[in-house]
Amino acid sequence: MTLDVGVIGVGMIGQEHIRRLDGGTGGSRVVAVADADTDRAAAVAGGLPTAKALPSGEDLIAWDAVDAVVVTSWGPTHEPYVLAAVAAGKPVFCEKPLAITQEACGRIVDAEVAAGRRLVQVGFNRRYDPAHRALKQALDGGAIGAPLLVHCAHRNASSPPHYTRDMSIADTAIHEIDELRWLLGQEIAAVQVLTPRRSSRGGKLQDPLLVLFEMADGVLVDVEVSVNIHYGYEIRCEISGETGTVELADPAPVTIRRDGAAAGLVPADWRERFALSYDIELREWADTAAAGRQPLGPGAWDGFIAQVVSDAALQSLHAGGRVAIALPDRPDLYAGPAGP
Ligand SMILES: NC(=O)c1ccc[n+]([C@@H]2O[C@H](COP(=O)([O-])OP(=O)(O)OC[C@H]3O[C@@H](n4cnc5c(N)ncnc54)[C@H](O)[C@@H]3O)[C@@H](O)[C@H]2O)c1
Repeated sequence: MTLDVGVIGVGMIGQEHIRRLDGGTGGSRVVAVADADTDRAAAVAGGLPTAKALPSGEDLIAWDAVDAVVVTSWGPTHEPYVLAAVAAGKPVFCEKPLAITQEACGRIVDAEVAAGRRLVQVGFNRRYDPAHRALKQALDGGAIGAPLLVHCAHRNASSPPHYTRDMSIADTAIHEIDELRWLLGQEIAAVQVLTPRRSSRGGKLQDPLLVLFEMADGVLVDVEVSVNIHYGYEIRCEISGETGTVELADPAPVTIRRDGAAAGLVPADWRERFALSYDIELREWADTAAAGRQPLGPGAWDGFIAQVVSDAALQSLHAGGRVAIALPDRPDLYAGPAGP
């Protein structure tokens, strides 16, 4: 069966996802798009063989021809679209963050629990990145014994003009929050955000940040978040265990040696670094939705927990100090393996 998809928010990642979902090998096509910028929606629809631009996201969700919904608008707009898709009984893939407060994410969880069916998948694409999967496989296979410490870095070349200090946590480090839960199979028990000397190249932002996480089993994690690093886009993760270490390899496919130096190219941005992860993520989501099965990837509960941790990190950023995290009980609907 071909899955007919509607996409709400057709900016950067919306267009990336459309490219993968429309007529790809996964048996899906895009039949509708909507964007607050209606000219942009019309232009994107005009470039697709079967898509119509609809006046609003609500119209798109309500349209019978749409089997499943992708939400790639700005974070603060996600909640009403995801709730409407759940109410309509349609599978919905929502880019991270699921919503911008834990209360809003909680309302989505409550709606799904009331519907008695998992319909929501959140765009935590690291879980689909072959390098991150290899890291997890090595760890789970006992290659380095019990993990003790994790060192991560999330470095963006630059940040857009609307980017705020809080977005370093809520929009950027939220990827590490989900990654750590998935990689280590543990919840995050506490967080502290430290503010080192400020980069003169970060504009008005407090950049970089150092985020320290305490996992429930005592593993300690440090994450450098730099959003104006200039040299490129780089994601690092090294796990130190009882019998060895395992780390993400340099993603450069080749090394160039010349003029007395050896160099590998650094990806320009997330589109280049994580292209394969989006391919795998959307293919699996579309196949699962087309088969009428519940999503296999990170769901509303994962989006909610990530937001609880993000809110705690923001509390530390604003007021200083270590913030302990108390999680509510997980509803039975979300029992079972978390993510791929
Ligand atoms: N998983 C990832 O690696 C990843 C990477 C980039 C962005 N994202 C997430 O994807 C989302 C979009 O990011 P982007 O970089 O594509 O942003 P963008 O600004 O390029 O595009 C967002 C689009 O949403 C539209 N929009 C805004 N409000 C709307 C509304 N109420 N209804 C419909 N459309 C609306 C805007 O007009 C714009 O076209 C964000 O939540 C972001 O955090 C995830």
